[in-house]
Formats: sequence, structure tokens, C-alpha cells
Amino acid sequence: MANKIRVGVVFGGRSAEHEVSLASATSVIKALDRNKYEVIPIGISHEGRWLSSGEALRLLKEGVDIRNQPEHILVPDPRKQGLVPLQNSGAAVTSHAVDVVFPVIHGPYGEDGTIQGLFELADIPYVGSGVLGSAVGMDKVVQKQLLRQADIPVAPDLWFPYYEFVRHQKRILASIEKKLRYPCFVKPPNMGSSVGISKAHTREELIAAIHLAGEFDRTILVERGIPNAREIECSVLGNEEPMASVPGEIIPSNEFYDYDAKYVDGKSKAEIPAKLPKAVVKRIQDYSLRAFKALDCAGMARVDFLVQRKGTKITLNEVNTIPGFTSISMYPKLWQASGLSYPELLDKLITLAMERHESKKNLKTTYQPKAEWFK
Ligand SMILES: Nc1ncnc2c1ncn2[C@@H]1O[C@H](COP(=O)(O)OP(=O)(O)OP(=O)(O)O)[C@@H](O)[C@H]1O
Ligand SMILES: [Mg+2]
Repeated sequence: MANKIRVGVVFGGRSAEHEVSLASATSVIKALDRNKYEVIPIGISHEGRWLSSGEALRLLKEGVDIRNQPEHILVPDPRKQGLVPLQNSGAAVTSHAVDVVFPVIHGPYGEDGTIQGLFELADIPYVGSGVLGSAVGMDKVVQKQLLRQADIPVAPDLWFPYYEFVRHQKRILASIEKKLRYPCFVKPPNMGSSVGISKAHTREELIAAIHLAGEFDRTILVERGIPNAREIECSVLGNEEPMASVPGEIIPSNEFYDYDAKYVDGKSKAEIPAKLPKAVVKRIQDYSLRAFKALDCAGMARVDFLVQRKGTKITLNEVNTIPGFTSISMYPKLWQASGLSYPELLDKLITLAMERHESKKNLKTTYQPKAEWFK
């Protein structure tokens, strides 16, 4: 019997999407095949405290006081290959060896390249995109610049540092009204789950929306509202040769797909596969694969589109590198509709993580300068 693969499933985290991550991790932990994997839950609290125990998920869900729980951290030292208990003495002995990490954290400090950097330093294989792919996958301003460069259609926008709005409100409002008009969408670039996003129909709403987004990020992104748009999503899976799933459609319960429509009121609907002409399906899949490559993604991503009803004008809205992963989330459901079950999807993602780590191993990390250069 081959040794089981020790999978560290990381969840929670310091972002405003902490609760969404707990829901995603619950499904992932439940669906991992125990004949193949030894599952090591690794919870990160709102404050950033690491705990690794069978209770981690329950403790974070119940929001109980975890200060007396033993802390286990992943150290940025390749020799440790796992979690070490943080003891008062500071002695670091590996308590849980980990073969691969599955980060199921959404938003900043989990989906933005930060924790991926720790995994790189620890030299442990991990599911999903690397440091760069995660960072540009998270930041909508930089993401859209790369997508434009790859000739992928995105919504017209303006972005500016929040402090600049505080100082030059009139000028910025005038340029937004001139270039984008109403309604427009205001977003904190580095966030997800529609947290901090507003649709502004008037100048008053726009000002309030910018102040709200400014609570979550230092930069503000304002986009022209794409009118009468259908919400189409496509899943991508792979490393160098990624595949695209069948597209699906979200019918939001509110004026736009806000946090309530996503997670609270339970009234939004999903149609899988989306009813779209074949040619539009093909274009959506092509744009998804091109976006995946343009952002240096790896493993997985969910690509969201706004497709205008008439004439099927396609706008790529954004790419998510760690999409929602509950069993009813679009990412796994689109793969199910494309012939890959949830457990098979998890297997594939773990295999891709190991393959990517293996291929990076061949890269040189030392350089021998010519001796005569130092004479
Ligand atoms: N330019 C736009 N035009 C029309 N609707 C938009 C636009 N931008 C965003 N929306 C609406 O707002 C929702 C959330 O926007 P977006 O996907 O950019 O945010 P997010 O927080 O990254 O969401 P996710 O949970 O998918 O990560 C979209 O699903 C759509 O309903
Ligand atoms: Mg997003």
C-alpha cells in the first residue's frame, strides 16, 4: 500500500472573506479520499493565529477563543517540510510533515501571493497559482492592464489612490463622470465576494461608494457599468496546457451579484451549462485560457464574464485564482458538468501542484561566475 499523501488544507485567514473560506474548506476536507490522503487541517484565525488540529475548522466556525490552542506554523525553511509547534522555548521540531498544501483562502493574505511566498520559501508543493499569478489574479487594476495587453476585452475604467480622492475629490469625480458616466461600479481592487463593491447611479452614491471601497484598499477602481449583462463563468484547470470547462450562467437575485446575492439570501440561480450559441461558448473558453496564461496562473482559476444580451458583446470581468470551492460553487460544478467529479477534481489539482513543484526543481538556484571576473 503506497504511503498516503499528507495534504495540509489551509483555511480561514485575515481577509474579509474568512467565513467564505471556512465553507469552501469544509467541502474540500470532506471530499478528499481518505484512502489516498492524510488530511491535515490548518486554520488561520482572523488575527492570523495558526492552529492545526482536527478541531481547527469547528473552532474557527464557532468563533471560540483559541488563545489556549497549541500553535503550529509553517516555517519558511525547506528543511522542515511541514508544520512546527510554536513552543515557548522556541525549539522548532516538525510536528506534522506535509507533502502538499491546498490553500482554500480567499482574498488578501491567502489568494494574493503572500502565503504562496511562504510555501515557496518552505519549498512545499501547493495547489493553485504561484506568487506572481496570485498577486496579479488578486489585484484587479494590474490584472486588467495585463488582460488589455493580451487583447482581451475588459470594462473601461479609472483607478486612483484613495488619498488622492480625499484631496482632489472634484477633479476625480469630474473625470469619472466624463469617461465612465453612470451607472458605474466602484471596487477595492484587492478583494472578492463583492466585499466593498457598489453600483453608483448618482454623484452622491459614487462618493459614498468610493469611501466604502477606501475602507478595504488603498487604491480605488471605478468601472463603467456593462448594461443588461448576463453573468457567465468558466473554470480553467491545468498548468502549461490548461483546459476550459463548459461555461455556466449566474442569475443574481439582486441588481448585481453582491455579497447577499452570493451567500445570504439563497435566491440567486445558476444555469449549467449556460444557454449560449456555440461560437460564444468557444470565444468564452478561448478568452479564459488566454487570460489564465496572460496572468501566469497555475492549477485552477474561475474566469467571470459579462455578456451583453444583444449581439453577445463579451467583456471579461475578472479572474479568481482561488474560487469558491463549496460543492455548490460554480468552479467545481462547471467541472462536474464537463465530466470531472469533485473528488477527481481535487486529485487533479493535487497532481498539478506536485508536477509544478517538480518542474521548478529543475531550475538552477546557484550560479558559478567565471573566476577571472573576480581577479
Ligand atoms: N463593470 C461592471 N458592469 C456590470 N456589473 C458589474 C461590473 N463589475 C462588477 N459587476 C457586478 O458586480 C459583481 C461583483 O464584481 P466582481 O466579480 O468584480 O467582484 P469580486 O468581489 O471579485 O467577486 P468574486 O466573488 O467573483 O470574486 C459581478 O458579479 C457583477 O454582478
Ligand atoms: Mg473576484
